[in-house]
Formats: sequence, structure tokens, C-alpha cells
Amino acid sequence: MRLLFLGDLVGRTGRNAVITRLPALIADHLLDFVVVNGENAAGGFGISEEILTAVLGTGADVVTTGNHAFDQREALVFAERQERFLRPINFPAGTPGRGAGLYTARNGAVVLVINAMGRVFMEALDDPFAAIDNELAACPLGEQADAIVIDFHAEATSEKQALAHHLDGRVSLLIGTHTHAPTSDYRVMPRGTAYQSDVGMCGDYHSVIGMKHEEPLRRFLQKVPGERFAPAEGPATISGLAVEVDDESGLTTAVAPLRLGGVLSETIPPFWD
Ligand SMILES: [Fe+2]
Ligand SMILES: [Fe+2]
Repeated sequence: MRLLFLGDLVGRTGRNAVITRLPALIADHLLDFVVVNGENAAGGFGISEEILTAVLGTGADVVTTGNHAFDQREALVFAERQERFLRPINFPAGTPGRGAGLYTARNGAVVLVINAMGRVFMEALDDPFAAIDNELAACPLGEQADAIVIDFHAEATSEKQALAHHLDGRVSLLIGTHTHAPTSDYRVMPRGTAYQSDVGMCGDYHSVIGMKHEEPLRRFLQKVPGERFAPAEGPATISGLAVEVDDESGLTTAVAPLRLGGVLSETIPPFWD
């Protein structure tokens, strides 16, 4: 089974790159299941239902989020009815929407997707390790789920790496999001879980984490906020991780980065030929 995870869509350039190119990627490379983090898709802050529908319409199976999940207030409403929209599972009880779901891939496999958020250098939330463990106890790999994908939206690499050791052999893919810069530590862990500390963003990399650089730079230089942050509008790089999952075990056999367009050099997973 062939999975693709795409990092945070940032603004119009990021979301349009994915909306334009994802259908051909799915068709040409026979992708069975695609997860996209959409937390910055609407002007850099959250996602509207219209954009969510457009991204799902390209063949993305699930849209995950993070700290920006509800920046667009309408998400508080559509989160309840849009089953393919996930917000972090360790948000407080009573928060609208869901943090995990079971979905059927194009090859018929049942895929559990969990979205969780870290707590180091982030808001105070419930324990993400315990929240994920609860979900996995109810839906173990190889029993109720043929594959399991976890989007761990977190700032600290240490927290992400610790979770990788905690989950190795129990999920197909644990991928970090939120920092918007791809790391080169993608690999298969000893017990078969694919891991990358951060998958990067789908957006304009000639920026400050996807935003036009002038205002973030000014706040570092002068400590005085001026304008609102706005997404950079140059050509976007689509940044993701491709994963081959064994149909029997649900564990990973191969992993490689995908980068298309924009200012980063292009990389196509070699096993996609
Ligand atoms: Fe983000
Ligand atoms: Fe984030």
C-alpha cells in the first residue's frame, strides 16, 4: 500500500500547488491514501469549508490540522459534519470535531488517522502520548486497522522523537508537522514505523515559515508588531513523505521524501517508478 503525507498547506500558493498537482500524483503513482495538513490553508490561518472541500476533491483522503485548526471560526461548525477533517485529539473534552477517524483507502485497506499536538513550547493540552495510546488500544494495527498514520503537530524535535520510540512497531507512520521546514531524518524505525521529525510545508519557502518575511523580521528587529502576517506568494514547493506499507503487517518497508516545484530541489520517491 502506497501512502503520501503532505505538510501544512500555507496560503493560496501552497493550496493551489496541491490542488493542481495532487490528482495526477495519485493517478500516475497509484497512491492508495493521502493525508494533507491543512491548518494554514486560508490566508495562513486555519481552513474554510470551501478550501477543505476543494482539497478533498483532489483525492486527499483526510485533512489534519494543529494549533490553527479553528482560526477560521466556521471550522467550529463544519468540524462536526466533515468526517475527513481532524483537529488534535488532545484538545479539551467538549471541543468540536474529532481527532481520529477510520477511513477506507483506494486499495480497500482500513486506515486509522490520528492528529495530536505536542505540549513543549506550545499551549497546555492533555497528554498526547496517553491520548494516542487510548486510540491505539481501541484500534490496534493488524486488527481493526490495516495501516495507521499519526500527524504529530509539535514544535520540539525531542518530543517528536520520544513519541517515535513510544510508537515504533505500533503504527505505520508517525510524521511531525508545524515547524514548516522539512528534516532529513526520515527513515524506518527498527520495528517498522516510518518517522520524520518534520515533513515541511507546502508553500513558498522564500519566506519565514511560509509568511512574507518583512513583518516577522521587523518583529525580531524592533519588538513592535506592525501589520498582520500574510502568506508569501511566490511559487510553492509541495513537500511530503511517501511511504510503502506492507499489506499484511501494516508496517513500513520504504520511505522517501517528495518535493515538487518552488525553490527547493525536486525529489521524487525512487520506488514510485
Ligand atoms: Fe502550520
Ligand atoms: Fe502549527
